[in-house]
Amino acid sequence: MKYLGNKKSGKDPQYRNIIESYEITRKRNINIHWYMLGFFVVLLILYLFTLNLQRVEDVTVINLDTRQSIHRRTSTRYLSYGLDTSLLRDMKTLPINDKRFVMLARHLSPAYVRVGGTSADCLFFDETPSSSADKIFDPINGEDISNFTITHKDFLALSRFARKSGARMIFDLNVLLRRPDGSWNYSDAEKIISLAKEHNIELDWQLGNEPNSFHHVFNRTVTATQLASDYTVLRKLLDDNGYESSNLIGPEVNHIGDANHKGELYGAEFLKHANTSVTYFSWHQYYLNGHIATVEDFINRTVFDYLANQINSLSNFIRGYHIRVWLSETSSAWGSGAPNLSDRFVAGFLWLDKLGYSAWAGIDVVTRQSFFGGHYALVAHDLTPNPDWWVSVIYKQFVSERVLDPPILDSKALRLYWHCTAKSALINRVPAITQYGVHLDNKPMKVAIRMINPAPLKSITLHLYVLTADHLQSRFIKMNNQTLMLRPDGKLPPFNPIILDPDEKIEFPPHSMYFLIYHGMQIPACEV
Ligand SMILES: *[C@@H]1O[C@H](CO)[C@@H](O)[C@H](O)[C@H]1NC(C)=O
Ligand SMILES: *[C@@H]1O[C@H](CO)[C@@H](O)[C@H](O)[C@H]1NC(C)=O
Ligand SMILES: *[C@@H]1O[C@H](CO)[C@@H](O)[C@H](O)[C@H]1NC(C)=O
Ligand SMILES: *[C@@H]1O[C@H](CO)[C@@H](O)[C@H](O)[C@H]1NC(C)=O
Ligand SMILES: *[C@@H]1O[C@H](CO)[C@@H](O)[C@H](O)[C@H]1NC(C)=O
Ligand SMILES: *[C@@H]1O[C@H](CO)[C@@H](O)[C@H](O)[C@H]1NC(C)=O
Ligand SMILES: *[C@@H]1O[C@H](CO)[C@@H](O)[C@H](O)[C@H]1NC(C)=O
Repeated sequence: MKYLGNKKSGKDPQYRNIIESYEITRKRNINIHWYMLGFFVVLLILYLFTLNLQRVEDVTVINLDTRQSIHRRTSTRYLSYGLDTSLLRDMKTLPINDKRFVMLARHLSPAYVRVGGTSADCLFFDETPSSSADKIFDPINGEDISNFTITHKDFLALSRFARKSGARMIFDLNVLLRRPDGSWNYSDAEKIISLAKEHNIELDWQLGNEPNSFHHVFNRTVTATQLASDYTVLRKLLDDNGYESSNLIGPEVNHIGDANHKGELYGAEFLKHANTSVTYFSWHQYYLNGHIATVEDFINRTVFDYLANQINSLSNFIRGYHIRVWLSETSSAWGSGAPNLSDRFVAGFLWLDKLGYSAWAGIDVVTRQSFFGGHYALVAHDLTPNPDWWVSVIYKQFVSERVLDPPILDSKALRLYWHCTAKSALINRVPAITQYGVHLDNKPMKVAIRMINPAPLKSITLHLYVLTADHLQSRFIKMNNQTLMLRPDGKLPPFNPIILDPDEKIEFPPHSMYFLIYHGMQIPACEV
């Protein structure tokens, strides 16, 4: 991994530059004010120099090259979210018609809302009622895997929710409905597609969920080759029914990065046979087991590195296929998340880092599991936002799809990324860049920005937004020391920055996240 930033030590020439310039300034002051004090001044200089040396040694210098080009672009709906299909088992308790719920989703617009998950492969439609009334549970997560039925009204309610929220729905169809010859039985899919077309709903599609794990979850097997041929059938079905421009996203594999590479092998085999029927390659990712994860896991550097290893491993298997990749279901911990962790302030570190790392490493869309339901929800059961909802909203406000290079991941405690600033956050349309990241240490950290190829520094103003909490497992999150709360009408509060000069040192409190916008930065790549 390339990097520019580094913790500077006394031996480093850049570090010496900083000390030298400080010394010169200090000496000039002394010449003007205290020339007459001779001997005392010498003592004073020595004293101050020692003090300052100490301070400079604690500063992490971040180098920022202003002449770089765009590293890559993500989708404009990069930060998206899921509504697990299991929620459709009880539509009455899913608040998709609640105004507050819609408002919370609308603050994350534009996005995809993926309606998918294990239960997608248990879903029957309308007049094809599911056969069994007995509940059955999968042996891994204990998740309900009984078949169930949704009506056309349910489907239309979901699509209305998506439209009102400024989201584009992705609907995951049941791939376990199969014919005696083993091929996919698309009779339900055909009905859902016609219904959608009848109502002119614009949406995208998936077929099945984590097919490489069917054996463990359902005691069934669908090979990658068979699935590819099922996707080809679905593609034709969409093309023939007016959905030729809809995306088909698959194969939704999990277990990427495992020692046996089963997920990667399944995915590569799928691509080999799917030809052009699939628009985006998709996979699922979690760092931790929600049943046993601890608060330390959520700030453990080793855990942060899992994602990089998984992305590297996957790309080794599919790089020959030149297809764009989505992380179509992802969260901190599987098994519905970790109680009192995945919905707390501490979850923000892995989430913000995932957004940063994935954008840089080649992922087009990251779909957060989930918007609602489970410990990993962005929105709590009482329809108040969890800390990760705030992190997501702030991300949407400040970060654009244009990714700059490189992230800084080598420092012990700081992981940071940069993008061009989102248009809506620009002041008078003056180009800007947003640097954001996590500070994982339990000690404060001082950072100095050093421009490489700088334009006149005077024109730049830094707007800093630091996210903290009273404790790691707080339900609340603070921006610049103010607890974030929606206004009574459901609108966002103003986000008030700390305004800094570019040569000022920045102090990150222990366990904090931050967004730092360089307004007025003359960076050609970010011109609007
Ligand atoms: C659920 O539906 C599938 C077809 O998708 C069928 O094979 C399976 O037996 C059903 N399960 C139960 C418990 O009825
Ligand atoms: C497909 O499923 C439908 C609904 O259950 C059923 O009526 C039909 O016979 C099935 N088709 C095949 C070829 O198995
Ligand atoms: C899995 O399915 C096979 C038949 O396909 C059956 O013989 C076996 O008992 C099933 N295993 C479990 C654990 O249900
Ligand atoms: C993909 O294309 C190849 C060659 O054109 C063809 O033989 C194969 O059947 C196609 N695969 C599918 C799943 O349609
Ligand atoms: C971080 O996680 C790794 C891998 O699980 C573990 O070996 C290590 O002990 C953890 N470190 C801390 C400080 O918890
Ligand atoms: C989560 O916290 C609540 C109180 O805040 C407590 O009652 C509950 O037992 C905790 N759950 C777990 C699994 O630690
Ligand atoms: C936030 O509060 C802490 C402790 O009260 C204080 O040291 C710090 O300066 C405050 N930061 C801001 C940005 O107000």
